[in-house]
Amino acid sequence: MSTYESMEAKIQRLRELKAQALQGGGPERIERQHKAGKLTARERLELLLDPGSFREIDMFVTHRETRFGMDKRKYLGDGVVTGWGTIDGRLVFVYSQDFTVMGGSLGEAHAQKIVKVLEMAMKNGAPVIGINDSGGARIQEGVVSLAGYGDIFYRNTLASGVIPQIAAIMGPCAGGAVYSPALMDFIFMVRGTSYMFVTGPDVVKAVTHEDVTFEDLGGADVHATKSGVAHVVADSEADALYLIRKLLGYLPQNNMEDPPFVDTGDDPLREDPELDRIVPTDPSKPYDVRDVIRRVVDNGEFFEIHETYAANIVVGFARLGGYSVGIVANQPAVLAGVLDINASEKAARFVRFCDAFNIPIITFVDVPGFMPGTVQEYGGIIRAGAKLLYAYSEATVPKLTVILRKAYGGAYDVMSSKHLGADVNFAWPTAEIAVMGPEGAVKIIFRRELAQAEDPAARQEELVAQYRREFAHPYIAASRGFIDEVIEPRETRPRLINALHMLANKREHRPPKKHGNIPL
Ligand code: HXC
Repeated sequence: MSTYESMEAKIQRLRELKAQALQGGGPERIERQHKAGKLTARERLELLLDPGSFREIDMFVTHRETRFGMDKRKYLGDGVVTGWGTIDGRLVFVYSQDFTVMGGSLGEAHAQKIVKVLEMAMKNGAPVIGINDSGGARIQEGVVSLAGYGDIFYRNTLASGVIPQIAAIMGPCAGGAVYSPALMDFIFMVRGTSYMFVTGPDVVKAVTHEDVTFEDLGGADVHATKSGVAHVVADSEADALYLIRKLLGYLPQNNMEDPPFVDTGDDPLREDPELDRIVPTDPSKPYDVRDVIRRVVDNGEFFEIHETYAANIVVGFARLGGYSVGIVANQPAVLAGVLDINASEKAARFVRFCDAFNIPIITFVDVPGFMPGTVQEYGGIIRAGAKLLYAYSEATVPKLTVILRKAYGGAYDVMSSKHLGADVNFAWPTAEIAVMGPEGAVKIIFRRELAQAEDPAARQEELVAQYRREFAHPYIAASRGFIDEVIEPRETRPRLINALHMLANKREHRPPKKHGNIPL
């Protein structure tokens, strides 16, 4: 009889090891995970990736810790499932933390698996999606866990602007662990089962004496509305994963590629007479700018980012004539569309993402100016507004602007004006491009006359009407060439698509530098 094991036996052993790795933390912990309303790490990957496309690597990796009885607690894969697969046939790299294995906690080996995937994604120019569900640094492993996080943060930073990085939060994400998602491009959270915070409710209580629940401190809605940390919130894990697939459809694989063209079937020459009626000519009347966006873009499909955060500005992705575009629009339905700190930062980050990944930026303008007040000034509206100016000025992708109605003051300059290098600037006949609104302007320039007037109210009304006639239109800006063309609202879609075609080979070079100094 041979002393060598047979091939069958060797294959059998391999199969057993793989089966063992697939069990994660075992059936009991998997049941606990399901009972908590959560899927397992592998179930999530199945929903995220094209069926049968997932290729797992590092399935047999284990930790090297021996203290605290850890030598007896080894799990194949060490609590994170890593590899690659496809989404709509396009390559992506993935990692998915397995909460059933030591709470998905991150030790040295776990971290190195994530680092490997990040490096492969960068080398091969494909997006990376990280699914987070973890108790944080593996306490038994001590400082090597912290080192592991540091190694990941460093790779996230190197990958920034090279490949799209998307984080899905599907459980706890606490302490320093939050900074890997925060360094990525988009964070998706799930209502009710995911939370992020730097310090948990117990520490908060001890330090600031505040009583706060996990949900109120770092739940999905908190981050989607108050902090702006979460870009997209879903009602279920399946929804979140579906939305990630959808988002990737708008993005290129890496910064050297253009986003994919998709024949959407929507006629590029389609005009929409309804657009002539959406924007009220009375500049103080609100309307939902998303009605304009949906009528202009292909098939009315708009993938909104940061929907409930700083809702006075709207950002998101859509297609125009099949080409992926990033849209930025003041929202007159919320705070009259004013630019404040949060809106400026939200839009600035979005503009920079689009520019990094070759996505043209379409800006719809209806803005009364910057938000006044001590809260804004003390909070640094000067710095925040400068971020948006910087982001638009720095962007070299095609930049198209449509002024729908108000474009007042500094906000006119900020919102992708000609002066910041926008390529084609359209205005609707309803556009009002001026230093400020007629009422404010008249009060300042005719202060003395109004004080002496017999009937100040009547005189003010007259002067406002006069100012409105002289300034509240787009034709002075058009006479200077700041507006390339005043168009009828119904023509907006064909004009934008035509301009995108004209700009298809746009090249713009800037002086070489290490990097600029964006006012952070
Ligand atoms: C090792 C951990 C762990 C951790 C959880 N587990 N967190 N093991 N290191 N950080 C283990 C538990 O011992 C348990 O093991 C299993 O995971 C599930 O945990 P439970 O507590 O039973 O689950 P649950 O009740 O759902 O609570 C989840 C939790 C809680 C809220 C995440 O486990 C928790 O508070 N963990 C500690 C969180 C923490 O303080 N982490 C350090 C953060 S600081 P068994 O064997 O029983 O299944 C940090 C710094 C990063 O991360 C710095 C980067 C620079």
